[in-house]
Amino acid sequence: MPPREARPSDWKWRTIIEPFRVKSVEPIGFTTLREREKLLDRAGYNLFQIPADKILIDLLTDSGTAAMSAKQWGALMRGDESYAGATSFYRFERVVRGLTGYHHVLPVHQGRAAERVLMGIICRPGAVVIANSHFDTTRANVEAAGARALDLPAPEALDSAKPAPFKGDMDLRGLEREIRAIGPKNIPLILMTVTNNSLGGQPASLENLRGVGRIAKRWGIPYFIDAARFAENAYLIKLREKGQGRRSAREIAQEMFRLADGCLMSAKKDAFANIGGFLAFNDGSLLAPARSSLILGEGFPTYGGLAGRDLEAIAQGLEEVTDEHYLSYRIRSIEYLAAGLRRAGVPIVEPPGGHAVYIDAKRFLSRLAPRLYPAQALACELYRVGGVRAVEIGSLMFGKGGKKGFTPAPMELVRLAFPRRVYTQSHVDYLIEVFSALARDRRSIRGLKILRAPAQLPHFTARLALAS
Ligand code: F0G
Repeated sequence: MPPREARPSDWKWRTIIEPFRVKSVEPIGFTTLREREKLLDRAGYNLFQIPADKILIDLLTDSGTAAMSAKQWGALMRGDESYAGATSFYRFERVVRGLTGYHHVLPVHQGRAAERVLMGIICRPGAVVIANSHFDTTRANVEAAGARALDLPAPEALDSAKPAPFKGDMDLRGLEREIRAIGPKNIPLILMTVTNNSLGGQPASLENLRGVGRIAKRWGIPYFIDAARFAENAYLIKLREKGQGRRSAREIAQEMFRLADGCLMSAKKDAFANIGGFLAFNDGSLLAPARSSLILGEGFPTYGGLAGRDLEAIAQGLEEVTDEHYLSYRIRSIEYLAAGLRRAGVPIVEPPGGHAVYIDAKRFLSRLAPRLYPAQALACELYRVGGVRAVEIGSLMFGKGGKKGFTPAPMELVRLAFPRRVYTQSHVDYLIEVFSALARDRRSIRGLKILRAPAQLPHFTARLALAS
């Protein structure tokens, strides 16, 4: 494929330059190898149990971990904390309307609250929500409302080595087929997650987003976007999709929203906020039940579970995220890490997506059976050797254990998710150096066994030990 050079048109230099200078700094957690070995042992080889000040580079998630800009910090001071009708809400509403074109805008405390409100209104037992892929909390909220969540990713999304440009696409033929089989009346929603976090942070193409829109309209089914990483998706469209290179990322994002009837947004990603989200749509008939649910679970509709200052930070963040110097730096940094890992002989999900690089531990540690949790073993070794925290997306998170035997997850991945505007190129160079050492010594990496784990969401609290 390789993508066209990711840079704004007037930038002629090859070096990836961080498009900011630093005004305030935070120390990172240096520890010794011996300390990290003790910490791992004490944490039961579970990186969620390690205190953050013992982490050198934290790539656990890109959610809520962004560095806010000076303008966002300034906007916090402007926050109007009035219970009803705060000026901060009207500013927030204006920015969200300007970006998305949706008229009704409801703030929520984070993305999953928007999911809970929407699914609670539109889902009923027997209904099926169809998505390119549901994020875990989206699926859980669909199921909690009694409906079924059906994923229809493009077939190439499941081949981690295949470098297709738009592995976040939906399988349009599958969509037609399922609508006919299930019946449009039983499908309250078609959802496109951009980028597709569950399958490698891969973008959906504008062509595919348009195709979904046409099908949804023809069958009269509401069509929403899970927009957590909309700006990264829009910029990857600009880079990779024919005929889109001359448009601005903001224009492309606006078209993405225009194609759908509404969106769910976690502002903890592409709004550079540490907390927050919103639900936005045009259909007036959703407004009254959505407001009632919001008041019950979040707060009055002009603050929705957030402080006025959070609304200000999100509004400012949404204005900043489509800046192409930022998006170029963002996407090129991920690509730079991917190139370094390839050079070091570390297999990754190709091509790298917008917010993370996913390492294929099944291929990297091919001698470890899934039963030995190779992705968790790699994540722990990454911490032991380099003090870096990543997250396992494999058999610890999605495998099935118990008395009936062990069923592994389909993939054994380690996700290196990058907080926005936080780390620099030297942090990435360090990471590549650590991975080169891991690749050299990969034969010595030992598998893990579970000592105890709860049945629900085992990865957060499970205790493990080195397998003998
Ligand atoms: N949708 C997508 C695509 C997400 O990635 C997330 C969160 C949510 C919805 C839920 O948003 O956390 O604000 O409630 N993803 C985080 C992650 C947790 O680490 O990928 P939230």
